[in-house]
Amino acid sequence: MTVLVVGSGGREHALALALSKDPGVAAVHVAPGNPGTATCATNHPVDQADGVAVAALAGELGADLVVVGPEAPLVAGVADVVREAGIACFGPGREAARLEGSKAFAKQVMEDAGVPTAAARVCTTRAEVEAALDEFGAPYVVKEDGLAAGKGVVVTEDREAALSHALACQQVVIEEYLDGPEVSLFAVCDGTTSRCFEPAQDFKRAADGDEGPNTGGMGAYTPLPWAPADIAAQVDELVIQPTLREMARRGTPFTGLLYAGLALTRRGIRVVEFNVRFGDPETQALLARLKTPLGGLLHAAATGTLDQAPSLEWGSGAAVVVVMAAGGYPGVPVKGGRIVLAEDTASAHTIHAGTAQGLDGELVAAGGRVLAVVGTGDDLAAARQAAYGQVSATDFETGFTRTDIAERAANGRVELDSSYTATNPTQEN
Ligand code: AMP
Ligand code: GLY
Repeated sequence: MTVLVVGSGGREHALALALSKDPGVAAVHVAPGNPGTATCATNHPVDQADGVAVAALAGELGADLVVVGPEAPLVAGVADVVREAGIACFGPGREAARLEGSKAFAKQVMEDAGVPTAAARVCTTRAEVEAALDEFGAPYVVKEDGLAAGKGVVVTEDREAALSHALACQQVVIEEYLDGPEVSLFAVCDGTTSRCFEPAQDFKRAADGDEGPNTGGMGAYTPLPWAPADIAAQVDELVIQPTLREMARRGTPFTGLLYAGLALTRRGIRVVEFNVRFGDPETQALLARLKTPLGGLLHAAATGTLDQAPSLEWGSGAAVVVVMAAGGYPGVPVKGGRIVLAEDTASAHTIHAGTAQGLDGELVAAGGRVLAVVGTGDDLAAARQAAYGQVSATDFETGFTRTDIAERAANGRVELDSSYTATNPTQEN
């Protein structure tokens, strides 16, 4: 089969790479792609947000499957246009993509579906904001209601900072603080059937020790030695399946990747957020361990035949991804910094996220998150060593990384609250 991937980031490079290794996939194309995707697929200079142009390209290429990577084209309805052209598409339509596009919408779906999440208030006036901040107390959680590339959320003890972020947003969601380790759980969905990935953990803050501002994600690892062995099955039952039923009931079934960002709190599993696409950089780590051919899996989801697809198979080892970001990120990143990549090895490879070809053909930084370095090994310690070894061998002077990705998990220092069960009978909401 021929597959067209839409997008230009690290997630799309990782998807194109995994698709290129599927024996059932004859050709992989990317629109628009980046210098990394050019090494494993064919790039096409097409605007990812232009559904008509994407569908036309898919038609010209004879694509059997279009995989829409990022949230912006999904929220803009690109998957609808591709499906209307009669081409199978992995990715939700505009209406179902609101699960990520609007936090208020996602909260409403969760309420209707009985999915456990943080209590929240949608506010449009200063008085509503102040009342909600005082109702929940510190730490304050203030979320802009719209797409913000992971950067619209402020979690702070400082009421003034919480208030000023809220007042800078047009519509804002203020919610109860969730305490407990975070898990990213991906489910491939065909509207009815779901196939859950193994869990991963993401590092959202810019600096070591979970300090600094929120980012799109500075690193990730899988598996999670500290998580309950049946976490994926629990999340499928408590979160994914009820959400799929509710979306189908509304007449907008969810086809694509439903990403549940979760907190495993003392009072049980709580959804922090939904995304409607593969997470970045968790995907880079997860796909390094997925043995099931990716093209066949995504095609089955896109054509409503996931119940007939084989169950997912995973490598027994671990994968750690370390993001190399441009100085200034998540604020205004320094562009144009020169990069000389390290050679890929059996245990480490480099994914391009925000790179470009400079005038002399050299590789330069062209975004906030620039590279995602993936290390694999028998366990997290070995995978970390492989990833950080590759980071050291990469020449990117204007870039920076966190130095503590997966460190606590590798040392057995991530712990669930002793009273954790998936559904705690004493839960208050
Ligand atoms: P979101 O964009 O909703 O995923 O939020 C970004 C990050 O902010 C999450 O990954 C969490 O680390 C943090 N966060 C969001 N909501 C909460 C919450 N209710 N309690 C604690 N931390 C949160
Ligand atoms: N890594 C978090 C995200 O993709 O939103």
